[in-house]
Amino acid sequence: MNRKEFLGIGMLAFPALAASALKPIPPLQPSDHAPDNEHFWQSIRSQFPLGTATTYFNTGSMGASPYSVIDAVYQKSLTINSKAEYGGGDHEAMAAIARFVGVDIDEIALTHNVTEGNNLVAQGLPLKGGDEVIMSMHEHVGGALPWLNRAKHDGIVIKVVQLGITGTETLANIEKSITAKTKALALPHIACTTGQVLPAKDIATLAKSRGIYSCFDGAHGPGMLSLDLHDIGCDFYSSCCHKWMLGPKGTGFLYVKKEKLEELKPIMVGASSETGWDMLSSPPMIKGYSPSAHRFYYGTQSAELYAGIEATVRFHETLGKKAVENRVRYLANRLRHRLKELGDNVQLLTPEESSSRGAITAFRLKNMTMHKFQESAGKEKFSIRTIPENNVNCIRISTHIYNQLEEIDRFADLVKRSV
Ligand SMILES: Cc1ncc(COP(=O)(O)O)c(C=O)c1O
Repeated sequence: MNRKEFLGIGMLAFPALAASALKPIPPLQPSDHAPDNEHFWQSIRSQFPLGTATTYFNTGSMGASPYSVIDAVYQKSLTINSKAEYGGGDHEAMAAIARFVGVDIDEIALTHNVTEGNNLVAQGLPLKGGDEVIMSMHEHVGGALPWLNRAKHDGIVIKVVQLGITGTETLANIEKSITAKTKALALPHIACTTGQVLPAKDIATLAKSRGIYSCFDGAHGPGMLSLDLHDIGCDFYSSCCHKWMLGPKGTGFLYVKKEKLEELKPIMVGASSETGWDMLSSPPMIKGYSPSAHRFYYGTQSAELYAGIEATVRFHETLGKKAVENRVRYLANRLRHRLKELGDNVQLLTPEESSSRGAITAFRLKNMTMHKFQESAGKEKFSIRTIPENNVNCIRISTHIYNQLEEIDRFADLVKRSV
């Protein structure tokens, strides 16, 4: 074995990558990426190293990256390690994310995950004991804990609101819970439990009209829905690049509306956060914070992963953000349709209203527990998520562009045999 083989480097380390990465997606005509063009979406499947031994329906937990993203990370790593330099790339990654979600680069801070963004907001807002924050019964631990922690340390009061089965009902429930003490709405854009899409724009408008903060946990937004955060009009939006964006794992971002920048205290600071600092002055001090949301990230970061973020945004842009949304909705609709054929043996938890759902489908079986079903689905090599959190007790299926109609039909057949 020569040294290259031992270290696993060179072309042999990435045989599939070398073959597929060189096959870029050709220029598209509008009908190419129509949601029901199976031939096209099957060809997109070959852009991913995702194996076929298991049928992957758990993008809500983690997305699989295409070769182009893996290749960008690898190439950047080669470049920076050939010189042992820092690498940068943060500006380019933030510019790509800003473009992708329709905001200004100055409103984006890079983070490592959704939880970090939620913590930055929950810890940084000017809240005091007795102030109320409205949340839902459908939070992820990474959405709930940052606020529960603030409650534990500073005595803010968390009020839990029920989501309605329509956007209008959800909005009305939230409005009814607002009191003179309410200072923030901290809600998921898309619930990780049932996939319910909340009426984010209406919620942000409501918050603004009452002079309170609108803070979204947007774990499932970008890459599933074609987003425009300026249009939504919220104050803060935490998300990640490793779920529906199909980007590198351990990457995320926090959107901070320009007008709210000075109201959010930076709780974690370092290089990048400041405009200057002085240990010789009396007293020693930070001279100023970076005049943008870049004040919320700090220190040495991963240039490799930043290159991957840029590549993943380019991947989505090549396909078209709206085309991706249309396809993932199409797949979820197909699953929903198949499940509905099973009548009251299947209880769909994802709302019927089309604006209240996206690419996550959640359901319960009348005659089988979610754990028992997960076990039999596992035997048939389906990777799915169950939701025991807060007794929601359901089966959650996430469908992304690498999923095929055939996979959905095979899964629906399994459900049919299970009821
Ligand atoms: C709604 C929601 N919020 C937060 C998280 C936590 O995300 P991360 O692991 O990127 O912090 C998840 C993960 O599934 C989620 O679904």
